[in-house]
Amino acid sequence: METIEAIDVRNEHWSIDEWSHRIDKLLDGESATAVFNVDEHDTREYDAIFLGGGAGGRFGSAYLRAMGGRQLIIEKWPFLGGSCPHNACVPHHLFSECAAELMLARTFSGRFWFPNMDGVTTSIKEMVDVFKRGRVGPHAIMNYQSKEQLDLEYVVNAAGRVIDAHTVEVAGRRFRAKNLILGTGARSATLDVPGKDLKGVYTYESIVETLDYEPSETVVVVGGSKTAVEYGSFFSATGRRTIMVVRTQPLKLLPDGETRHYAVTRMKEEGVDIWEGSNVVEIEDDGTGRVRAVKIQTPGGIERVETNFVFMALGEIPNSEMPVATLGVKTGSKGEILVDEHLRTSVPDVYAIGDLIGAPMEMFKARKSGTYAARNVMGESIAYRAADYPDFLHTHYEVTWVGLGEEEARERFREVIIIKMPPDSPDGWNVGLPASDRTMLYAFEKMPKSGFQKLVIDGGSRKIVGAHHVGYGARDGFQYLAVLMRQGLTIDQMGDFDELFLNPSHFIQLCRLRAGARQLQNL
Ligand SMILES: Cc1cc2nc3c(=O)[nH]c(=O)nc-3n(C[C@H](O)[C@H](O)[C@H](O)COP(=O)(O)OP(=O)(O)OC[C@H]3O[C@@H](n4cnc5c(N)ncnc54)[C@H](O)[C@@H]3O)c2cc1C
Ligand SMILES: NC(=O)c1ccc[n+]([C@@H]2O[C@H](COP(=O)([O-])OP(=O)(O)OC[C@H]3O[C@@H](n4cnc5c(N)ncnc54)[C@H](OP(=O)(O)O)[C@@H]3O)[C@@H](O)[C@H]2O)c1
Repeated sequence: METIEAIDVRNEHWSIDEWSHRIDKLLDGESATAVFNVDEHDTREYDAIFLGGGAGGRFGSAYLRAMGGRQLIIEKWPFLGGSCPHNACVPHHLFSECAAELMLARTFSGRFWFPNMDGVTTSIKEMVDVFKRGRVGPHAIMNYQSKEQLDLEYVVNAAGRVIDAHTVEVAGRRFRAKNLILGTGARSATLDVPGKDLKGVYTYESIVETLDYEPSETVVVVGGSKTAVEYGSFFSATGRRTIMVVRTQPLKLLPDGETRHYAVTRMKEEGVDIWEGSNVVEIEDDGTGRVRAVKIQTPGGIERVETNFVFMALGEIPNSEMPVATLGVKTGSKGEILVDEHLRTSVPDVYAIGDLIGAPMEMFKARKSGTYAARNVMGESIAYRAADYPDFLHTHYEVTWVGLGEEEARERFREVIIIKMPPDSPDGWNVGLPASDRTMLYAFEKMPKSGFQKLVIDGGSRKIVGAHHVGYGARDGFQYLAVLMRQGLTIDQMGDFDELFLNPSHFIQLCRLRAGARQLQNL
């Protein structure tokens, strides 16, 4: 059994600032010290060990503890919270905010109070460094909150090894529990092409850890879904020629064709160069182990692009290898651990949660599946499957949706009513509506950039069955809209809400304009 250095912090009560300092040092690799926050006086058997202290493990633990149970998190990083604040969601939101700010600055370059942005390239590395400097703040809050407020037990900065369905080994100690809840997350997939390991090839994980130079004036992004579009829009907004190599089409996950068309058109107009039906076939070495160029198979033949920066955004692979090897848990075609609606794996007393169980790989699912597994462990019989959830991504805008796109609604319902902005008119998108927070300047001066929104309504039942939005500030509302739609929200009920005018989605007042009609019409 491996023994590594350990410290016991159970009786320490570090402030958030002290945690920041400690985590910083541990992340810098100054020591491989495992940090134990274990209640040695509690003689109860653990109800569950959570392997992985990310969103799923931490929220599941908090719920289990709140229900009066005893839990232990084992986490290989020196902090709780997982990949979201360390290299995934949070940097993406910082970079997406930069993309939105830069689009505004470039659109109004040299006008009003905006500086002249002609020919200006802003730094990618600087923003990566900003993120890296600040990320331990949230990490520290989570360690502090989990210990001092949520009363969770945990071991951090040491990887756990599953021994059997009830036993995990960490930093030379073995812990036993009635149940094991696996939440080891996922890692990025890479493309298996010559040159994939050269310096200059990045994923969302490695860009944060190892980017130590300023990428060239041309960069290549591979993939066409959320990660590719979010990072690609940021790189492009910095002023670089950004070629997005997409093997099929970009943003296929958006359910509404018109919304997708608006989002992709805006990206292209902001300068993102989208190469559809294309694949990277080779990444060239400059002779020193660095990227010099990329060869891309396009529908028109092979193109060679000179660059020192390639960003791979090809989806996620669940970290399921260890439990498969030691426990024999069943997995699906993408390596995801198969679970039933109670989050139970194929092995008795072993549960799995979060990204490890496959798509959708989103925070809400990681957190909810964690809490549902905890509730089942604590004796409830409660089923969970992620369904009818709201979703979003960033281009230079926020793109948010819930429910059906117009196309699928027309397949399902005899009569479909569309309420949208800009409305269908000979002016197309050259209309200064929608307009609200963060889009007012566009609405007055660059009308097609002021956003797009759409409600899809089943004319027969008058129920809202889909909502789509490109702009800013509507995302919060979609969290609640999804619940109301699940409860059968109608155009009449929506039209009777009290709006806070101007509001980013305009949905309430638009519904009110049509709700009086016995026979609904488009708007
Ligand atoms: C670029 C990007 C942007 C994203 N943006 C968003 C967003 O804006 N909104 C959103 O909802 N979702 C977003 N996501 C998805 C979100 O990050 C994940 O769904 C979520 O973090 C998954 O949580 P989890 O607990 O399943 O896994 P994680 O948070 O990854 O936690 C797994 C934990 O297990 C630990 N671990 C692994 N092996 C071991 C071991 N052997 N022993 C101990 N510990 C171990 C890891 O260190 C890690 O902390 C984004 C994802 C990416 C890639
Ligand atoms: N909420 C958010 O803002 C957010 C942000 C980022 C990520 N995430 C989550 O994190 C997960 C990963 O996101 P992601 O965007 O990286 O992955 P994804 O949604 O799985 O998309 C993968 C992309 O890579 C392409 N691809 C896959 N294999 C390829 C190959 N061998 N060659 C060329 N192209 C290939 C796919 O093309 P095809 O479409 O042709 O298959 C697709 O465009 C997702 O579950 C996502 O929901 C969430």
